[in-house]
Parts: sequence; structure tokens; C-alpha cells
Amino acid sequence: MKKVLKIALKVLVIIILLASVAGLGGWWYINSAFLSFENDYAENTDIKELTIDGFTFLDRNGNSKLDIYEDDRKSTDERVGDLLSQMTLEEKIHLLKGSGMGSAMGKGNTAVPGAVGTIVPTPRLGLPTIYLSDGPAGLRIEPKREGEDRTYYCTAFPIGTLLSSTWNTTLVNDVGRAMGTEAKEYGIDVILGPGANIHRHPLCGRNFEYYSEDPVLTGFIGAAMVNGIESKGVGTSVKHFVANNQETDRNFNDVIVTDRAMREIYLKGFKIIVEKSQPWTIMSSYNKVNGTYVPERKDLMTDILRDDWQYQGLVMTDWFGGDNAPAMITAGNDLLEPGTKKQWKALKKATENGTLSEAAINTSTRRILRLIVQSKKMQNYQYSNNPDLDAHAKIARQSATEGMILLKNEQTLPIKKAKKIALLGVTSFDFIAGGTGSGDVNEAYTVSLEEGLKNAGFEINQASKKLFETHKANHKEQFIKPEGFSAMTTPYIPPRMTYTETELKEIVAGSDLGIITIGRNSGEGGDRIEADDFLLSEKEQNMITEVCEAFHTAGKKVVVVMNIGGVIETASWKDLPDAILLAWQGGQEGGNSVADILSAKVNPSGKLPMTFPINLNDHASNDNFPLEGGTLNIMKLMLASREEKPENEKVKNKDYTDYEEGIYVGYRHFDKMELEVSYPFGYGLSYTTFDLSNLNVTMKNDTINMMVTVTNLGNLAGKEVVQIYTSKPDTKIDRPLKELRTFAKTKSLNAGEATTLTLQIPVSELSYWSEEDSQWILEKGLYSIQVGASSRGIRLSMEVEIN
Ligand code: BGC
Repeated sequence: MKKVLKIALKVLVIIILLASVAGLGGWWYINSAFLSFENDYAENTDIKELTIDGFTFLDRNGNSKLDIYEDDRKSTDERVGDLLSQMTLEEKIHLLKGSGMGSAMGKGNTAVPGAVGTIVPTPRLGLPTIYLSDGPAGLRIEPKREGEDRTYYCTAFPIGTLLSSTWNTTLVNDVGRAMGTEAKEYGIDVILGPGANIHRHPLCGRNFEYYSEDPVLTGFIGAAMVNGIESKGVGTSVKHFVANNQETDRNFNDVIVTDRAMREIYLKGFKIIVEKSQPWTIMSSYNKVNGTYVPERKDLMTDILRDDWQYQGLVMTDWFGGDNAPAMITAGNDLLEPGTKKQWKALKKATENGTLSEAAINTSTRRILRLIVQSKKMQNYQYSNNPDLDAHAKIARQSATEGMILLKNEQTLPIKKAKKIALLGVTSFDFIAGGTGSGDVNEAYTVSLEEGLKNAGFEINQASKKLFETHKANHKEQFIKPEGFSAMTTPYIPPRMTYTETELKEIVAGSDLGIITIGRNSGEGGDRIEADDFLLSEKEQNMITEVCEAFHTAGKKVVVVMNIGGVIETASWKDLPDAILLAWQGGQEGGNSVADILSAKVNPSGKLPMTFPINLNDHASNDNFPLEGGTLNIMKLMLASREEKPENEKVKNKDYTDYEEGIYVGYRHFDKMELEVSYPFGYGLSYTTFDLSNLNVTMKNDTINMMVTVTNLGNLAGKEVVQIYTSKPDTKIDRPLKELRTFAKTKSLNAGEATTLTLQIPVSELSYWSEEDSQWILEKGLYSIQVGASSRGIRLSMEVEIN
């Protein structure tokens, strides 16, 4: 027996030893391949000032002379040219990939823990490290640093989808300015956002980061954001270029799509952003398009982006994106992020054996150098690490309020007489600021709906609050918010609540109004599913039915607040409550913003940036979308083979996704098929009513000029969005019935006040992409210019003749 025990012990020790060796080996491999492999290129921080001829400059290379690249009186091109001529081939290659994921994990000697990538320094020339950080709703850096008491929280602004719901480019520009300032003051040089992918299907887990199902709305809002951020001397990375419309197997998925759908839908938003804002960087997407990884496609990286659109900035990969490093540089994807040792080696080898040309290396290096020269780091800007978080919280609140959408209101809102409010549903007390993954922000606080209403002077029913607290105490584990890395991959979804008849009776007796909150959370790496997510869960359905019945029996009203990041089903239950507010995920001030609307401090003016369908499968894309959901597998992302599977082993919607619906995405499809929807694209109510009148359309120099008068007919001040669609009734080709071409939002109009908006559409925007001719074609003849308060609420129209 003793002998058996001894053997067993020995085996155990061997297993532990082997496991430790394997663990250490694995860790060593991951560390040296992905985290920090930059041992010989430490940033040179000991840079002296020199004064020559009365001009003080930073002697970056320490040669006691003023080099052209050190002279900030010279143009960017001159400085970049000088740098390029001074760099060795090895230094150039070194610059084409980041320094690994170390800084993202706060590892090593990093200036900004949590920054998810870098452009590497060139110590010999004194070029600084450039820090890249997520993301679309605000900065995502580590809030705590080792050995420090203070925190580095960032402002959680509203999610992208809410910002596009404002249809207010000036306001989005203000948000961008605040984000840019915050990044600048925390030492971040490039914000990895905004996200400009199209909402092809409601279940894409990252739709909350993106703007719309429509490319024009996406483009206008995206450009406003880029211009705002970059006005502060901080770059953006517009992502994910292109056709990254699902999270399931996003790193390998091959998008099979027509050129026409690419040009008119998926590329179009990016094109508008490039034309209106020339972003410093664009992030290529993980997926393939028609068989080839996007960053390896020269047609996308160079022919379209650079030659057609005249894009001047650099393109970086998404994190660990693409397969063949030299092929990516050759195609025009200039920077590989976050960079791996393997890619570095591959670039060196390809240079040696001539498969990667020096010309391609120079082109990409030049683009990267332009960014470095433009950066605040190069100006030696001393960042404060103290952005004005209070000022930014105000902008977060203001923008969130303006992007919330009133979907239904039967003489219920604003809340006038009701003082005592009963809050129902977990999310009312545990409000969701934003989605998960790289679109998340480490904010200091989130104002819940309860807090927001209290701040606005409402009284909260204690019976419903107590029930929430008991529920929370009974499910302690599930109420622990994931932190750090697991927060990245696990959406926080605490268990839902139910109420008994007696509980509801007590709640109704003690309150004047009920508010039910429906919450949803999703994020990077996984797509949503239909059951219990797009559809309400059984508990939620029962809650809405029972709560409405209990309140209505007592002659009291019920409001549903949707604290969600993506579209959910509404048709089956929207008749039950008296009012519905789509609050989206409004960032850290979300609860205050909802209260601003419910109390009429602000009149709602948000409009839907996508359609709310009746059924999920009313969407044409539903036939070709992964409907099983899933979560992100980081190891697969980093280590899985990119080798092409044999055709017969490929799995539909995972290995490839067929965009069979072509250009018929969102309202383009619903309108064409004459499908009923729950709420149409562009829809949103106000506490007042607006009249649209005096449409005047004229043509001048290939531009259609329109004037529309908007009059506030009600007795409360408010803003209205004017949406201009065009259609070609006698078209010879297959075209959508109408397409959004431009829009404008009024200032706040007082009761009775009128304003005239002026809008323009370049005639070329009426073109369609011809597959046969491989170019944009403008059909001649009559077009109808339609002015709407939504895509299905056309109020005025006029015809113009295009010759
Ligand atoms: C995401 C990007 C993000 C990057 C860095 C990737 O997984 O797709 O949007 O910017 O990580 O965090």
C-alpha cells in the first residue's frame, strides 16, 4: 500500500512539475511573442533642448544640430522627408508593427497603462512612443496604477448608436472635442474609434458601437466625431474597414458580397468620413472579403481608399488581424497592431528575399511618420493627467439626452402631477452605461435611473426598491460586475425580477406612476440571440403585462424605458404601456438624461438610426447571419491557424457569410418589400409638433439646393430633424424606393417659432454603382426629393430634372 502511495505521490509531483514547466513555457512564449519583445528599442526620454539662432528646439537625435525633422517651422512633408532619408531600413521595418500587447495589460515600462497599442519609438532619432487607446464611447485605460492612490477614470460618453440618434452633427462634434481633450490630457495620441460599420442585422453584438443601418447617417455623424476629436491634436482610427458586420468568427469569416453592396452600403459611410474629415488613421477589419483578408486586399487598401478617395492617413490592422504581414504592407495596410514578434520576423525575411519591396516599406513608413510628426508627443506636449471630468460629464449628459427617442406617448409624458414613482425591473436600479469589450470605458460612476429621478426631485417608491434589494441580496454572485479582462468578454447581465400580485398591489398603492426598465447588454466577440435578447424573456413579458394591468386598474400610467444597445422586439408589447422611451445606453450620466426627458427639462428630439422590425426574420439579412450567439475566444484569435479550410468543410455564417440581400439593408429592404415595421427608420416623437412647409428645390452647379421651413406648432420649445430622401420613380434598374441623402436638425425652436433650413445634395450622390461598368452611373431624368420626419413620414416632395 505504502508503495502504491509513493508511486501516486511521485506521479503527482511529476504532473505538477510538467504543468508548471508547460505553464512557464507557455507564459514565456506568450510574453516574448505577443506582450513585450521590444528589448532593444526603449524610448529615448533624455532629450535636450538646444537654442540656435534664437530658436529653441528639441535635439531629438542629440547631435547638437537642428535637423529638418526637429524644426517645427518646417512643413510636415519636409520633416517626414528628412526623417525618411535618415532612417535605416531596419528602423523602418521596426516601425511597421506595434510593440505588442504589454501596455494594454499595464505590463512593462508603459506611460499609459491600459493603452492597447503603440507606434514604437525610434530611439536613435529620438522619435517618441505613440499611444493608441480604445474607443468609441470614451477612453479605455486602466483606472488604477500600481503604487498610486489616485485614479485615472475616463468619461463614459453615450454609445455610438445613441450619438447617431441625435442626428445632430454639431453636438457629436462637441462630444468628439471632449473625447479628444480627455485623450490628450491622459497622454493618448490616437483614439481607436469611431466605429462606422453598418447595422446589417440587429443581432451583431457590436452594433452599439456603430451608428446606423444607413451609410449617409453613419458618414455624417462619423465625420463630425472625427473632426471633433482631431481638432484637439489627437488622432482617430475609423473602424472596422470594412464589412465587419458580425462578431461570430469575425477573425476568419469571409464576407461574400457584391461590389454594388460594398460601394453603396458598406464602403459608403467610410467614404463620407474620409471626404469630410480625413482621419489620421483607419483600422482595417478582421474579416475577409470575397476570399481575401481585408488588410491584404490592395483594391480596398490602396485603389479605393487612396486612389479613389484620396485618403492621406495610415491604415492599421485590427488587433492581431490579417495573416500575411508582408502582404498587408504591400497592399497598403501600413501598421500591424498590436504587433507580434512573428510579424516582425516575417517583414525582415520578406525584405531580405525581395518579396517585400523597399518602395512599399517607404510608403507605409512615410504615412506612419506623418502621424508621429503631427502628434502632441512630437511637440513635447506635457499632458496634465487631469482632464476636466466634470465638464465632460455635462457633455455626456447633454448628448445622451438628445439621442434618446420617444417611441410612444399617450398623454403620459412629460410627468407633470406624479411625484411618487415606482421603478420596476433590475435595470432601473442598475442602469447600463454602455456595452462590453473594447467599446467599454472605465468610468468613475454610472447614474442609475433611480438616482437620476431623485436628482430631478421625484420620490421613489420604497416597496419596489426593497424588492430589488432583496432580489440582489439573493443573487449576490450574479450581481458582481466582471472587472479587468473578464469585463472585456462577459456582458454583465444580472438575473431578472418578477413581482407577485400582492407585491404589485402594494407598489401601485404607494405610487403615482410606474416605470419599467428593460435592459440589454452585449459586446465584442459575440453576437446576440433571438430568445431572451431580441425577444423579451418570459419574465419580462409577464412583468410588462402584470405591471400595466395593476397600474391601469388603479387608473395610473406606466412608462417603459429601454436601456439597450441594440434593437429588440417591440411589436408584441408596445400597446401595453402608455409611453415608451428608448434611452439606449447613455454613458455615465444615463439616469440623469432619462430624468431630463421625463421631466421635460429637455424635449426629446432623437430619431431612430435603424428600423425596429416586427420580426427578426423580416430583415433580408436574417437568412445569412449566425443566429447562435457565442463569446470571444482570445486564444483562438491569437493562435488559431489562418489556413484556408477545404470548401466542403466550410460552415455557413461562420467561415463565410453570403450577403445575399445585396443593397437591401434596413429600410431599403422594408420599403421595397412593403413590409410593416414596428418603428421605421428616422422615427421619433417630441412633446411638441412640427410643421414642415415651403419646400423649395433649385439646381446650381451640379448641386441640388433645398430650403424647408420648420415651424413649432406646439407650446413647448423643441428641435426637429429634417430628413431628405430621394427616389427615382421611373428607374431602369433595381433601386431602393428611397434613400437618405442628407439631413439637418433645427436649433431649439420656441412655441410658434419657425426657421428655414438650407440643405444640399451634390447631384453625383444620386448615382448607383454599376457592376457592369465598375463605376458610379448617374441616371438622367426626374428624381423625387422627399422631405420627411421619418422614412415613412414623408411630408413634402418635389421633382427635379437631372440632365
Ligand atoms: C477590436 C478593436 C479594438 C482593438 C483594440 C479589437 O479586438 O476589434 O475595435 O480597437 O481590439 O482593443
